[in-house]
Amino acid sequence: MRIFIAGGSGFIGNILLDYFSKEHETHGSFYANPAPGLTYFDMADRENVKKTITRLKPDVIIHPAFNSNVEYCEENPKETWHMNVEGSKNVIEAARDIGSKFVFFSSDYVFDGSNGPYSEEDAPNPINEYGKQKLAVENIINDYLSDHLIIRTTVVYGWEIAGKNFCIRLIKNLKENKSMKVPFDQIGSPTYALNMVQAVKDLVETDKRGIYHVVGSDLMDRYTFARNVAEVFELDECFLIPVSTSELRQKARRPLHAGMKNDKVQKEISTKLMGVKDGLEEMKRNRR
Ligand SMILES: NC(=O)c1ccc[n+]([C@@H]2O[C@H](COP(=O)([O-])OP(=O)(O)OC[C@H]3O[C@@H](n4cnc5c(N)ncnc54)[C@H](OP(=O)(O)O)[C@@H]3O)[C@@H](O)[C@H]2O)c1
Repeated sequence: MRIFIAGGSGFIGNILLDYFSKEHETHGSFYANPAPGLTYFDMADRENVKKTITRLKPDVIIHPAFNSNVEYCEENPKETWHMNVEGSKNVIEAARDIGSKFVFFSSDYVFDGSNGPYSEEDAPNPINEYGKQKLAVENIINDYLSDHLIIRTTVVYGWEIAGKNFCIRLIKNLKENKSMKVPFDQIGSPTYALNMVQAVKDLVETDKRGIYHVVGSDLMDRYTFARNVAEVFELDECFLIPVSTSELRQKARRPLHAGMKNDKVQKEISTKLMGVKDGLEEMKRNRR
C-alpha cells in the first residue's frame, strides 16, 4: 500500500511512519517542525493539500495532524477551528476525490466525562473546544466518506523527541527532583503509543471501517498513573502532588470520568492492548 501520514513530525505520527514504512511505501509530512524526508504540508491551505495528495495518490491517508493543545484551543477557538476543522475537511475532500481510505485520530474528549469508560455506542457530548473540534471532524468524515477509520485514543505515553506527553514530562521532573501537581479526579485509559500504533496498523491492514476505541486496558486516575510511572522508572513519588482538577485553574473543562472501553477492537485484531504496568515496562525496555 502507499500511505501518506499527515502530521508525520508529531509524537504519534513519527511512530506511525516507523511502523508502516517497514512494509509499505510511506510518506510523511511536517508543518512547523521540519524533519529529514518529510514533505511540507499545511492542511489549512487547500491548494497545498490538493497538490500534495494528487501527487502522492496514497491508498491510505492517516491523519494525526491537529493542534491538540487543549488550553490553546479553548483560548483561540476561531484560529484553531480554521486549522483543525476546516484544515481536516480539506484533507477529507482530497481523500474523497482520489478514493483513499482516511484514518483520523480522535479522543475521549468527544464525551462529557459524566459516566465513562465509554464504548463506541455512547453518545458524544463534548464540553470543551478541543472536543467540539474533534467531534466536528468526525461528523464531516461520516458525511463525506464511507471508507474511513476513526481512532479514538487518550493519555498516550511513550518516548518522544519533543518530550511533551504527560509521562515524559513526569519522568523528567521527577529525575530533576521537581514537584509536579497531578489531578486525582481525572479518570482515563493510559495508552502505550507503540502498542496503540500496532493496533492501528492491524486495523488498516485488515481494511476495517468505522469508529474504534484504541486504548490501554486499564482505567485509572491521573495521579495513580503517575505513581505507576514513578514505580516502574524507579523515581521518587514524593514529588507528586495530588490535586483536584479545579485547583489547576485551567481554561478548558476536562471530562473527569472519561476513559474508553477497548472490547470492540480487541475482538477484531490480534494485537493485545496492554495495561499500564505492561506498557510502562515495555517503554522502559525500549528506552531511547
Ligand atoms: N497524544 C495523546 O495523548 C492523544 C490523545 C488523544 C488523541 N490524540 C490525537 O492524536 C493525534 C496525534 O497526537 P500527537 O500527540 O502525536 O500530536 P502532536 O505531537 O502535537 O502532532 C501533531 C502533528 O500535527 C501537525 N500539524 C499541526 N498543524 C498542522 C497543519 N496546519 N497542517 C498540517 N499538519 C499540522 C504537526 O506538525 P509540526 O509538528 O511539524 O508542526 C504534528 O506533526 C492528534 O490528532 C491528537 O489530537 C492524541
